[in-house]
Amino acid sequence: MLARMPVHSLFPTRIYTAPIARGDLNSRLLRECRHLAEEDIAGRRWSATNYPGGFTSYNSQARMHRMSPTFAALEKLIDGHVRKFARVLDLDLARRKLEMTDCWVNVMSRQVVHGLHLHPLATISGTYYVRTPRGCSGLKFEDPRLDRYMAAPPRKSRARRDNQVWVTVPAEQGRVVLFESWLRHEVQPNPTKTERVSVSFNYSWF
Ligand code: NI
Repeated sequence: MLARMPVHSLFPTRIYTAPIARGDLNSRLLRECRHLAEEDIAGRRWSATNYPGGFTSYNSQARMHRMSPTFAALEKLIDGHVRKFARVLDLDLARRKLEMTDCWVNVMSRQVVHGLHLHPLATISGTYYVRTPRGCSGLKFEDPRLDRYMAAPPRKSRARRDNQVWVTVPAEQGRVVLFESWLRHEVQPNPTKTERVSVSFNYSWF
């Protein structure tokens, strides 16, 4: 029906989600994530200040795809999806390669939050979900035009999803979510008793 209306949708914001890892790779990832959360002392120290109650190797072990064959196998799977996503976005990558530059582990216990942020200096970012207890927080995206809204009325509570200013993509074990790195996002306080485990990454073009 929309196609017949005199309305054009421009400048879309695209989010890509797909299932990627099979059981075996996922269990190895979970084991290594847990191991890292215990052994990475620098990461634990950094997390105590910057990620209260949780663990992230963002500031200590952020090249896991170079450190571990298990993470390298994950990188290989993600590569194919990033290529597909780049095609959908019509990115001209003829001159340079888009490759994984950072890859780190996040463990969110109960009530751990990940505040609103974007990934500066990267092209495409994303998260692979290793363990998602039922009811755990999803990935909440913000309308990138929100800071320019002035006299904009609120949206109807039942607005179409593409007209909403916040959209949460559920976190599902074995799936990857990709987005352009300038898109702000957050993870709201995790309500589950068991830990939510994910691997986040950046792809850069330089
Ligand atoms: Ni992020």
